[in-house]
Amino acid sequence: MKNTDVKFHDLAPQANDFHADVIKGLSNQPRMIPPKYFYDKRGSELFDAICEQQEYYPTRTEISLLQYYAREIAERIGPDCILVELGSGASEKARLLFDALKPTGYMGIDISKEFLLDATKKLSRDYPWLEVHAVCADFSQVLEIPKHYQEQQHIAFYPGSSIGNFDPDEAVIFMEQIAEMVGPEGKLLIGVDLKKDEDILNAAYNDAAGITAEFNLNLLDRLRNELGAEFEDGAFMHEAFYNGSDGRIEMHLVSTKNTALTIDGKTFRFHLGDSIHTENTYKYSLDEFEALARRAGFDVEQVWTDRKDLFSVQLLAVSNRP
Ligand SMILES: C[S@@+](CC[C@H](N)C(=O)[O-])C[C@H]1O[C@@H](n2cnc3c(N)ncnc32)[C@H](O)[C@@H]1O
Repeated sequence: MKNTDVKFHDLAPQANDFHADVIKGLSNQPRMIPPKYFYDKRGSELFDAICEQQEYYPTRTEISLLQYYAREIAERIGPDCILVELGSGASEKARLLFDALKPTGYMGIDISKEFLLDATKKLSRDYPWLEVHAVCADFSQVLEIPKHYQEQQHIAFYPGSSIGNFDPDEAVIFMEQIAEMVGPEGKLLIGVDLKKDEDILNAAYNDAAGITAEFNLNLLDRLRNELGAEFEDGAFMHEAFYNGSDGRIEMHLVSTKNTALTIDGKTFRFHLGDSIHTENTYKYSLDEFEALARRAGFDVEQVWTDRKDLFSVQLLAVSNRP
């Protein structure tokens, strides 16, 4: 039966969540805004442009792993599953699995509504045999898979090494939630970026074309356009660096002068060089990630890596340990 309709579930966070999170984040020290707010339509487009940059190895490495091992991944998962992608973006990586995996249904979950709808409509057109669901939601809330998929195996798909955006303790809590969502027979197929030479990491988040900088600065455009924030043009610049002691890339918006940012009459003052911390991206060794997965109630079933050990795709099974 042909099915070209996307089933849309709107659980989008309220605009006032954005306002409250920004005011709270700018009032704390160190100042921090959660990375999920990078992603309006423009942010999603810029992320896709980052993936095209020569320095940004994670996307092309993960794509080649998924392409090369799609059949093996499908064999390990088995037939008749529902694939639930967390932070589905353009859903390009899920496409690499469909022919081998032949899932009964696909559920893309993303906070960036327009982009999600666009991507899932294209999917539904290109894979008429697939039931496609688009869920606009913050995936850190507890999410349920529709009841009529009870018979199917539940597979969560979390590519892009976005797990690195959580600090390790938060990552454990988030993965426990995924284990709950997929149930005792469920699995998690996850992309995990690996520790490596710092120069490679620093270059990846400071591409020569300045796309990552634009992506970071787009957050300020959102503050101005959606929250009416007032600040001088050029008052902040992009900064990204590997913090070796914490094992993470940090991304900041750093003030280029003594300046101020005002939202709703509330003024936040910045000295030259003060930062708004916008993202962490933790990098793991295979052993570190296995230990993290075990804490969250998963066993590592299979790990696929590239020849240079830049990136890994891992299949985790919900653990049946007592
Ligand atoms: C780094 S991109 C990865 C996109 C795609 N999965 C890939 O691997 O290329 C992160 C995606 O997650 C979405 N996202 C970020 N935080 C989110 C959240 N808290 N809830 C739902 N979606 C989120 C963004 O809109 C974006 O599409």
